[in-house]
Amino acid sequence: MRIYLDHNATTPLRPEVVEAMSRVLRETWGNPSSIHAEGAAARGALDGARSEVAELVGAAPEEVVFTAGATEANNTVLSGVRRHLVTTRVEHPSVREPAAELEEAGVRVTRVPVDGDGRLDLVALDAALEDGADLVSLIWANNETGVVQPLPEIVTCIAARAPLHVDATQALGKIPVEGDWDFLSASAHKLNGPKGTGCLVARRDAPVLLRGGGQEAGRRGGTENLAGIVGFAAACALARKEAVERRTRCAALRDRLWERLEKLPGARRNGRPEEVLPNTLSLELPGVEGDALVQALDLEGVAVSAGAACHAGAVSASHVLLAMGRTPEQALGSLRISVGHGNDEAQIDEAAERIHALLQRMASGKPGE
Ligand SMILES: Cc1ncc(COP(=O)(O)O)c(C=O)c1O
Repeated sequence: MRIYLDHNATTPLRPEVVEAMSRVLRETWGNPSSIHAEGAAARGALDGARSEVAELVGAAPEEVVFTAGATEANNTVLSGVRRHLVTTRVEHPSVREPAAELEEAGVRVTRVPVDGDGRLDLVALDAALEDGADLVSLIWANNETGVVQPLPEIVTCIAARAPLHVDATQALGKIPVEGDWDFLSASAHKLNGPKGTGCLVARRDAPVLLRGGGQEAGRRGGTENLAGIVGFAAACALARKEAVERRTRCAALRDRLWERLEKLPGARRNGRPEEVLPNTLSLELPGVEGDALVQALDLEGVAVSAGAACHAGAVSASHVLLAMGRTPEQALGSLRISVGHGNDEAQIDEAAERIHALLQRMASGKPGE
């Protein structure tokens, strides 16, 4: 039996999502911009989906711009920065990379540090905003550690000195995301929706994403990926309906796993448990090479991920864990386990057993047994 514990990477589609998408592909194939009946049916589906996504993020439907995912949304928001960007040291590459590019082009970029638990240094954020900024862009819940930033305190600290962009890709569907932000990015596939679909929610003017036929009220040209968008909306509807139950259930599974792993030699959790996404367990395992462990666990039928990024075959320590003050060795010895729909207690117990057995074999130098 394979056990999938990597829901922060992506999630399986829920049958309700597949059904909603299939119906659109079969029946609602018109172009939402056409004025005939086929177009009107597609437009109706698009409008309905927009309202559903808006409801989950607490925005008005006209503020939702559908995109090909959070990467596109993040790149777009940052492309509007001209003078000063304030961001953090723990961003996803879809903010990190465009921020570096802005810096190369002469834009001032301030990267606010985090503490040992991954939470933003609000004194440093306040100082960064002394001369104002075009934008504050920050990851709401971290994809590697699950650490959730304290949004109300951050909004108070910013004190309207700059618009706030939140990358809510990992937060949406896991914790409530209503709040006082100006821009929000998300991807459907992190909450049991399809890949290649997401949104930018813009409460004030955002840069135009793509120029073309005037779709999305002129903000993102290109004929809409209606099946993907409807699938995203179906996933949002489920997330709204199941919000409390999902949080409780994921946290119980995650904590059950920790109870079974905490006796591993030197094991410790990254982030304070009450400040971490309910589905995420980021672990430091001294002396273990996270990447090798992930590969070995895969052979044992358990899918997890390491707190390390693999680029062109070279494993580098996670910038997120380094920013939290971990040494490169500690960062390389980290494991990210993220639970979600489809996991149950029996899987958690079985995964814990396989992890224990594998680590014992690795310690005795016989991982392949
Ligand atoms: C926090 C965060 N932001 C952005 C993205 C990018 O999402 P996508 O690859 O769907 O564009 C991810 C995906 O891993 C993420 O975790």
